[in-house]
Amino acid sequence: MRILILLGSPNPAGCTAELCKPLRKELNTAGVEFDYIALARKSVEPCLGCSTCQNAEGAYGCPQQDDMQDIAEKIIAADCVVLACPIYTWYCPTAMKSVLDRTYGLSKNYGTAKNSLWAGKKIALLMTHGYDHDYACTPFETGIECLCKHAGLEYLGSYSVRDVHGKSDMKTPEAVEGVKAFTKMILRSIGWEEPSLPEIAEDVFPEAVTSALPKTSETTAEETDLPDLPDEVYYSVLELLSYAQATGFKLDGESTVPAVKHVCRLADHGDNDARFLAARYYITNSDDDRDLQRAVTWLELAVQAGHKGALNYYRSLQSE
Ligand SMILES: Cc1cc2nc3c(=O)[nH]c(=O)nc-3n(C[C@H](O)[C@H](O)[C@H](O)COP(=O)(O)O)c2cc1C
Repeated sequence: MRILILLGSPNPAGCTAELCKPLRKELNTAGVEFDYIALARKSVEPCLGCSTCQNAEGAYGCPQQDDMQDIAEKIIAADCVVLACPIYTWYCPTAMKSVLDRTYGLSKNYGTAKNSLWAGKKIALLMTHGYDHDYACTPFETGIECLCKHAGLEYLGSYSVRDVHGKSDMKTPEAVEGVKAFTKMILRSIGWEEPSLPEIAEDVFPEAVTSALPKTSETTAEETDLPDLPDEVYYSVLELLSYAQATGFKLDGESTVPAVKHVCRLADHGDNDARFLAARYYITNSDDDRDLQRAVTWLELAVQAGHKGALNYYRSLQSE
């Protein structure tokens, strides 16, 4: 599985680049390999329309020796190409247009060569624009859909954010969550499967999670697989360990007891996130009366302080 992101903005640190950040982050988290190419830093000449490429069987065949040679190789190696660009004059900026024109050599429709080098690949669009979405993006999106149809590519769809105030518009929770959902859609389309919670836990805190889980008949010292426990057990452990890390605790990968103590200390000092997480950890995993009493006190204090997570959790306990 491989993804190629082509950033078509002349600004390698502009709005579109900002919108690519959650995309890159999600791909990293998913462990999927990708290339990110800012076309502003590359030299891709316009297509000459010479059609030499159309007679090159099994090869890209463009006689122009510039950065498009490497980009063409990366397109061929990718399962999905994300075209990330601002809308310029109802289409894409010049550098992206040059790349699109120069993909001519990947489709072999007009000469002696017959076999496409990229048919079947997936294409997705990530756009920024000044006008509202439909007015701004429809011409470019239509053009890309036509290209996909013509070249036998699969168009996956688009996500876009309107630029009214500049880069801050790309950082809103709505924009970031939108890009994340867009990335998941792309990942699923290329056969990526979202890991289960135990798999995430195992990845992030390999041994710590196992040692922090409540001991059941299924968990033995020798066992290497994580036991089949309800999701809420994994959430309670995983989020507590994440919080310990986020607040400066260094997990040693073996015992979680010091990490739990660290979060409890924060809870005792009035940290409402810690109160909520420690309370949920004990309520989910412990049947010791002292632990449970501390947990209920922390939870009530966090609820009184207006902590939303604690409040939701408190309500869910009451409705059980
Ligand atoms: C030359 C130029 C042309 C533009 N044309 C359009 C357009 O046709 N429609 C639109 O909605 N926005 C247009 N915009 C606004 C950009 O799409 C928008 O500001 C975008 O977020 C810039 O992204 P960037 O910071 O990555 O370059 C244009 C901007 C420039 C500089």
